[in-house]
Amino acid sequence: MQSEYQHLIDLSDYPVSWWRKVVELGEEIKRDPKRFAHECDGKVMATLFYEPSTRTQMSFQTAMIRLGGQIIGFDNPANSSVSKGETIKDTTKIVSSYADILVIRHPIAGAAKAASLTADCSVINAGDGGHLHPTQTLTDLLTLKIEKKSLSGLTIGMCGDLINGRTVHSLCKALSMFEDNKFVFISTPELRMPAYIKDIIKANGSTYEEVDTLEEAISRLDVLYMTRIQQERFASEEEYLAQKNTYVLDRKKMQLASKDMIVMHPLPRVDEITVDVDDDPRAMYFTQAKYGVFARMALILTMLRDKKPSETLRGKVYPGVSCGNPRCITNHEHYLPKSFRSSRDETLLECEYCDERKLI
Ligand code: CP
Repeated sequence: MQSEYQHLIDLSDYPVSWWRKVVELGEEIKRDPKRFAHECDGKVMATLFYEPSTRTQMSFQTAMIRLGGQIIGFDNPANSSVSKGETIKDTTKIVSSYADILVIRHPIAGAAKAASLTADCSVINAGDGGHLHPTQTLTDLLTLKIEKKSLSGLTIGMCGDLINGRTVHSLCKALSMFEDNKFVFISTPELRMPAYIKDIIKANGSTYEEVDTLEEAISRLDVLYMTRIQQERFASEEEYLAQKNTYVLDRKKMQLASKDMIVMHPLPRVDEITVDVDDDPRAMYFTQAKYGVFARMALILTMLRDKKPSETLRGKVYPGVSCGNPRCITNHEHYLPKSFRSSRDETLLECEYCDERKLI
């Protein structure tokens, strides 16, 4: 299925050269933001946030305002006609006729893909459930490029809620495309990185290992990417409480790390990094959030300038086959075509919206 507009749903839909260009433009904007102050004069960006956000929503809005454009949207679907039962299809169709670019965050995986099927402007995925967060990844790549001077040859530790962490899923997919990156996944057995991400890492020629404690990995890392245990993604309070407070980065553990290691975190933080780490020069998470404005300015400019059509669905509909993931948008918005990528022998199908696999 073809859309006449260019969308950013998953960074993997674009070649690495495209990400590099966005990151380089972000660096250029950081050096001289005023030069870009009128690039989006007369343009409108809509931000549809079906799920709470501080950084992503406000950095997108700041980015558009700093480019000279204007913003519309909602940050609480209860204050929109979503509360009356309006579908993503209808909301997107209407809002995209008001705006030049649409940014959507949603608690259900595949929602941004669903929006892109009917939008009459470009759609950007600002986080879809526990699935992907490509604009956080652009922010993270920009941070690494500025602070580590390279996107290759890094040992990256990712710690915490790796099963539900859309930021680490997107970042692994991206960093495994660069040479000589190694991943160390630090989590409990229940919160391990999903198999499909580990398969992508292997297919891209990168390596990973899985460990249970921060102490056994921290001294070897160039980057430690901490994540929050995401209460809202657990099926029950009991399951959340069993994982809460498992990983806490404090000053004592920072003493085990190299002087060049940087600590990143997409934020918000709860208690996985103690506040006394904030003054350590290696703590990069607030700077990282600031760089998010430059990354999103670069992305908005690129999307509005390029105007290339996007292929939205590449897979096939298999009559009678639906996605087995209850948190996939196709199981919430039933009009959507259920589209799957298949293995060569068609025994393994992968949902095009949420990447869930099923055997048939
Ligand atoms: N990093 C991130 O997505 O933060 P918000 O949820 O505040 O947007």
